[in-house]
Amino acid sequence: MKIVTILGARPQFIKAGTVSRAIIQYNQSLVDGFSLLETEKQKELETRNQKLITELIVHTGQHYDANMSDIFFEEMKIPKPNYNLNINSLGHGAMTGQMLEKIEEVLLKEKPDWVMVYGDTNSTLAGALAASKLHIKVAHVEAGLRSFNMNMPEEINRILTDRISDILFCPTQTAIENLETEGFPFPITSNRQLIANVGDVMQDGALFYKNLAIEPALTNNQKLETNNYILSTIHRAENTDDPKRLKNIFDSLNEIAKETQVVLPLHPRTKKIIRNSKLNTQNLTIIDPVGYLEMVWLINNCSLVMTDSGGLQKEAFFFEKPCITLRDETEWVELVTNRFNVLAGANKEKIIDLYKNFEFNDDFSIGLYGGGKASKQIIQKILNATD
Ligand code: UD1
Ligand code: UDP
Repeated sequence: MKIVTILGARPQFIKAGTVSRAIIQYNQSLVDGFSLLETEKQKELETRNQKLITELIVHTGQHYDANMSDIFFEEMKIPKPNYNLNINSLGHGAMTGQMLEKIEEVLLKEKPDWVMVYGDTNSTLAGALAASKLHIKVAHVEAGLRSFNMNMPEEINRILTDRISDILFCPTQTAIENLETEGFPFPITSNRQLIANVGDVMQDGALFYKNLAIEPALTNNQKLETNNYILSTIHRAENTDDPKRLKNIFDSLNEIAKETQVVLPLHPRTKKIIRNSKLNTQNLTIIDPVGYLEMVWLINNCSLVMTDSGGLQKEAFFFEKPCITLRDETEWVELVTNRFNVLAGANKEKIIDLYKNFEFNDDFSIGLYGGGKASKQIIQKILNATD
């Protein structure tokens, strides 16, 4: 059984890397104890009605700096991509269009049984669209999430990807309900879409990598004080491309940093914008983006997360840290209803007020994301749905 995985952006390396590891373990479990030659192994598995999975990885190139891409493959031991399409730093149309064309070429050559896509980036949509036009089955991991804000490129990408996927792997019950409200499941060729709440693959990853965390090296050998710094990330287009929102966010972080150290591993998108701006950053500890093992260390040792990242909101919960989300809405609404997370938008007074006064829930015993079994369930369901 052949899967082509399409990825390209940082959070996809983290999600897909976890599933790749589970695929390798699954294959290993099938051939464990075999002392047969390769061809005999195949025959033996066929008589047992078991299938080895071949995964090929296509990296669109969307993220390409070493600390936005290579570091994840190295640190997390993700299999090297079989194809790198090198498509990046373009507008939405050109980026998605070029990806569509190049991914189609790969799929025509490789003829996989499945294409797997993750999340809601331009790479996700291009992969799903290329596959569905060739009548290759699509599995969408992190399906059903909605912000209900159609100004976000991510919302467009996820709605379209969900509509043309054969299997929708939802991370939460809310995601299932979102799909039901929109009339899913729809017919895909001769079948109906399969929708399943398998939990969140990022929780599988967080549990696995927790014990492998690495303390990041800061300039001047600076040491961070455990449980006494804020971890912040800012990169969403809705914030970076709106000067007023970005100014409000930086003003508030800079103000808060007078009291508590704010560590900000800065996405290159934001870095390029603040370089030519007069934003207040003098109190912030701005560092380059870090690898996932360093990021796990930073999350695990901070006192609070302040972010507009989707993935980081959940990781705050996995590592039992409160989170202030610098957006007007979130796809991870269960974190907000349970008061692990609060939406601050990009209003300076509101951000500072929530930082000072919001009473977070500190009982993290509730299970919201499946408990770390998502990858295994994904593999099993794909195998069951393969002819
Ligand atoms: C993309 C996703 C977003 C996701 C984010 C994860 C889309 C529409 N957006 O946003 O949903 O949250 O990835 O991080 O797919 N750049 C570099 N080096 C890199 C990568 C980016 O310099 O390695 C700069 C380039 O100037 C580029 C800009 O960042 O033009 C934006 O990159 P892009 O991939 O288009 O979008 P992200 O903001 O990263
Ligand atoms: N991340 C990382 N290094 C960083 C910043 C983030 O490894 O310097 C990780 C973070 O822990 C999470 C993922 O990248 O697992 C989230 O990606 P990002 O915030 O870029 O995208 P989003 O989740 O918002 O789509």
